[in-house]
Amino acid sequence: MRYLLVTILALSASAFAQTDEQRAAIADRIKSFSTVCVSGEDCGAAAGADVAEVAALPGEAKYAGCAACHGPNGGGGIGPQLAGRDADYIIGRLTAYKANETVGAQSALMWGQAAMLSDDDMQQLAEYITTF
Ligand code: HEC
Repeated sequence: MRYLLVTILALSASAFAQTDEQRAAIADRIKSFSTVCVSGEDCGAAAGADVAEVAALPGEAKYAGCAACHGPNGGGGIGPQLAGRDADYIIGRLTAYKANETVGAQSALMWGQAAMLSDDDMQQLAEYITTF
C-alpha cells in the first residue's frame, strides 16, 4: 500500500515537472504581442523608429471633427481642400472665422467650428494639416 502511494506521488510530480524546453514554449506563447515604449525609455533603435512613426501630433485628434467636411487627408468635400495650404494660411482663415468674418459663401459653416478653437488649437491643427 505504501509502495503504491509513493508511485502515485512520483507519477503526479513528474506530470507537473516541466523541461526547460516546455517552459520556453509556454513563455513564448504567453509573451505580449508588442511592447509599449514610454518616451524617455531606452527602447532600442528599432523600437524607437516605430515610435517615431506612430507618434501622433496633438492636432490629429482635434482634426477628427474637421475630417467630416474636409476629408481625412484634407482632400476636401463639403469644405474646400486643405491639403497643400501652409500653416499661416490655415491659422489666418481660422482666426477670421472665429471672428465671424465672411471669407467665402459658406463661411457660416466655419464660424461654429472656429469659435471653440484656442490659439494653441489652431497652431496644432495647422501643424497637422500641413502633414497631408
Ligand atoms: C460642417 C462642415 C465643416 C466642418 C466640420 C469644418 N469645416 Fe472648415 N470649411 C467648411 C466650409 C464649407 C468652408 C468654406 C467656408 C467659406 O465659404 O468661407 C471651410 C473653410 C475652411 C478653411 C479655409 C479654406 C480655404 O480654402 O480658404 C479652413 C482652413 C478650414 N475650413 C479648416 C477647418 C478646420 C481646422 C476644421 C475643424 C476644426 C473645420 N474646418 C471644420 C466646412 C467645414
